[in-house]
Amino acid sequence: MKDQIEAIQNEALSRIAQAADTRALDDARVVVLGKKGTLTEISSGMRDIPKEEKASIGALLNSARTAITEALEAKQLALQDIADKQALEGIDSTLPSRALHHGSLHPLTLIRHQAINILRRMGFALAEGPEIEDEFHCFDALNTPADHPARNEKDTFYFDSGKLLRTHTSSVQVRSMESQAPPVRIIAPGSAYRRDEIDATHLSVFNQLEGLYIDTDVSLGDLKGTLEYFFQEMFGSGTEVRFRPHFFPFTEPSFEIDVKLHAKGQAPRWIEVAGCGMVDPAVFAAISASRKDGAYDPEKVTGFAFGMGLDRLAMIRWGIKDIRLLIENDARFLKQFA
Ligand code: DAH
Repeated sequence: MKDQIEAIQNEALSRIAQAADTRALDDARVVVLGKKGTLTEISSGMRDIPKEEKASIGALLNSARTAITEALEAKQLALQDIADKQALEGIDSTLPSRALHHGSLHPLTLIRHQAINILRRMGFALAEGPEIEDEFHCFDALNTPADHPARNEKDTFYFDSGKLLRTHTSSVQVRSMESQAPPVRIIAPGSAYRRDEIDATHLSVFNQLEGLYIDTDVSLGDLKGTLEYFFQEMFGSGTEVRFRPHFFPFTEPSFEIDVKLHAKGQAPRWIEVAGCGMVDPAVFAAISASRKDGAYDPEKVTGFAFGMGLDRLAMIRWGIKDIRLLIENDARFLKQFA
């Protein structure tokens, strides 16, 4: 019996040594230690062993079991080691990790945030209105007569219902005055739509930011100070700002605002960035007619308004030559603003 145990042990150890993977190792374990394994079977023959031999044979069985179990464990670790090494083959774990790709804000979003931040610091609150507007809010209440070119079917997107895609964010002026009494200090960034031919400086949808300030005794000086400060915050403290007389139906007097652009390698030039003016009393009269509470009595309130093109501001800020880049979503272009 002692010889048999020794033979089983040797056989098992050599199977274990030869096992090339964990499956072969499992097989080796079952053959010896399984329910019908060789060592299990011989252990059950202990009953028939004479008393005086029991102790020594038992000890031999135990040491065989221990030797085999230890060999199995050691081989298991060795195989795992090999598997780990193979999994890592070709991978240099000392290399720095790959950079994560973060998204970035669109240049228009960056400009809008900056404009809003500056104006909020000055006490303007955000306001909004619908992009599908009616003629009253887009034109009539803004003192724009029916024969004004902006109302032409060739220039404006009309729906069969008579509604239209707002041609400017100035409609939010009207909506704000309808819904709140003076004083009013609002800004309204948003999309506007025109039937323009698409080229490097025109799209049929573009982005504006409207502003409106209504109180008693608001002066042209307030308008100039506010907008000069705004554009100097936007483009740098030394930025020159000029107010050029112009015409808008809803303001009187009205101006276009130019800033002096110093682009690299180019002679400095004035570039138009916004329209503005003192709110025309005719606008207050229209609001008074619809509110009927006298809050916007043209004799009592005064105010200024302005509207700027955010696309234009972004193009100036970053020297973007073609407005279409702002809507094409070409990652190579957008990545530059990360
Ligand atoms: N709504 C004008 C446009 O789209 C811009 C503008 C001019 C807005 C003068 C104003 C303003 O509020 O006072 O061209």
